[in-house]
Formats: sequence, structure tokens, C-alpha cells
Amino acid sequence: MYNDTVLDHFQNPRNTGEIENADGIGSAGNPTCGDVMKIFIKIEDGRLANVKYKTFGCAAAIATSSAASELLIGKSIEEAEKLTREEVAEALNGLPEKKMNCSNIAPDAIRAAIADYRSKIGN
Ligand code: FES
Repeated sequence: MYNDTVLDHFQNPRNTGEIENADGIGSAGNPTCGDVMKIFIKIEDGRLANVKYKTFGCAAAIATSSAASELLIGKSIEEAEKLTREEVAEALNGLPEKKMNCSNIAPDAIRAAIADYRSKIGN
């Protein structure tokens, strides 16, 4: 069902874990299955200098979390906020149509983390 890129990210997820003293933390879940992603961001000079996450979910949720973290590191806050599930799926060379909902988690979680960051800096 999954291509080799998805399987690679699922079996060897990149950037997993937590960031101590993260500048922003956000969570998002898939209400249909209960899978969740918690994401931690470090901001330097308006860019995402580091991104880590913990995802409890299906293979697609873990693979999309991993691919999203790679896409997000180095992006400006404004660029990161615009991350779409299509971009994440594209970075994985595609996902089965019925697993596309699983790729909502990372864009939703990063927006929550950025909102948390903005609320902390009062912006
Ligand atoms: Fe829950 Fe994929 S089945 S995120």
C-alpha cells in the first residue's frame, strides 16, 4: 500500500523527540482515529531552527510527521504556517488516497505550535 519513501520515513523517522525550552509547542490529532502529533519548535531570526515531534499514530501519520519536519526546518514562520498536506504527501512521493487525512496532522500541529510561539512573544 505504501511506497518505499513512506516506508523509509516510517521505519527511520527523522527529527523525533522533544526540544527542551521549545519556543512553541503544538498538538493536533485526527478525530476519526485518535492519532496525535505533538510538535516542538525552536525559532531563530524568524526561522524554524529546529523541529522535533512525537507522533502516536499509523504509519502514514509517522511518515508524514517525519517528512514535514524535514520540510519545516529552515523555513520562515510565515512559510511554515502555509505548509499543506499536499506538500507533505509530495515529499513522500505520494500517499494512498484513503491515507491523505493522516497528513493533516503535521500542518495542523505546526500551526498550533506557531500560535503558541506568537502568544508567548505577545505577537
Ligand atoms: Fe490515524 Fe492515520 S489512521 S492518522
